[in-house]
Amino acid sequence: MSTEQPFVRARDLVIRFRVKTDHGSRWITPVDGVSFDVSAGEVLALVGESGSGKSTLGRTLVRLNEPTSGSLQIGGRDVTHTRRSRDLKELRRQVQMVFQDPFGSLNPVRSIGQHLRPLVRKHQGFTGQALEDKVAELLEIVGLQPGVEAAVKYPHEMSGGQRQRVAIARALAVNPTFIVADEPISMLDVSIRADILKLLNRLKDAFHLGYLYITHDLASARYFGDRLMVLYGGQVMETGDADAVVGAPKHPYTQLLLSATAGHGFTRKGDVLNIDAPNLFEGRKGCPFAHRCPLVMDVCRDVRPPLTAVDKGHQVACHAVTGASVHTPVVETSPS
Ligand SMILES: Nc1ncnc2c1ncn2[C@@H]1O[C@H](COP(=O)(O)OP(=O)(O)OP(=O)(O)O)[C@@H](O)[C@H]1O
Ligand SMILES: [Mg+2]
Repeated sequence: MSTEQPFVRARDLVIRFRVKTDHGSRWITPVDGVSFDVSAGEVLALVGESGSGKSTLGRTLVRLNEPTSGSLQIGGRDVTHTRRSRDLKELRRQVQMVFQDPFGSLNPVRSIGQHLRPLVRKHQGFTGQALEDKVAELLEIVGLQPGVEAAVKYPHEMSGGQRQRVAIARALAVNPTFIVADEPISMLDVSIRADILKLLNRLKDAFHLGYLYITHDLASARYFGDRLMVLYGGQVMETGDADAVVGAPKHPYTQLLLSATAGHGFTRKGDVLNIDAPNLFEGRKGCPFAHRCPLVMDVCRDVRPPLTAVDKGHQVACHAVTGASVHTPVVETSPS
């Protein structure tokens, strides 16, 4: 594990949105008091079912969402409320996003070379033949050999996996320090998912990249993540070293996710039935998982369980696991 200062430092992040309801509008809180650090060269895997707030959190790192409260530092700078377009541009160079659907993010009428050339020219300063060589080299780095041939292809001439490699090359072209990879393998054929994760892993070492790897799937999170953060209803349920969290999950929600993964390899999106979505409306109380939890106690519906250390670097937010008694309000009685 890295000993550097964290590149991303998030503290008590809260994101609120106003949503329409049958009776007007209400606030929801899809990210509700989330704190984490990620260093360059490190992978934090963010795991949870659909609607748990993963993408909302990921988009916040490139400030597509502005935190309602809390703080966000990237590369040592506070970017919580950065508005200046020059600063946001620089942030979005340092932190690149790779999305689920590589086809959607590529222009069908432009060749792969046309996608990459302007970025490599602007951010790495190459021109002429050196620019062509650099684009080809970049394509080979992401596994598209020979690079000169890949550069003249159009997106529709490539497979889903090859297009995702192009999307990764495009992210690399601007010399980023960090990548938010939002479900980068979930739309790909099962047979090539591991190859793309291996590529991301190789790039981590080669370029000392940090990642927020967003996935619904614990198996791939363990494979690629150094650490895991399990999110439900916008709150962290459990976090710790990937092997500790997946090897011996403590939270009943993590255990549920693991049971969906068991024996199937990497799961498909939606494998865990999200029968009852968590209540995200402002003013909710207690643990967001209480309505589905096999270990639920009265206290769980009223008091939000704090993240509590169960082992070195391993924290769990669950009254049943860490003991609800410590959270019982202490009533001061004056001596008579
Ligand atoms: N801009 C927005 N305005 C209103 N609500 C939003 C907005 N963005 C996200 N939400 C809501 O926030 C909640 C969390 O959504 P988010 O996309 O972060 O979940 P997710 O964990 O990425 O899910 P998935 O696995 O389906 O991608 C959802 O209820 C979603 O509808
Ligand atoms: Mg998402």
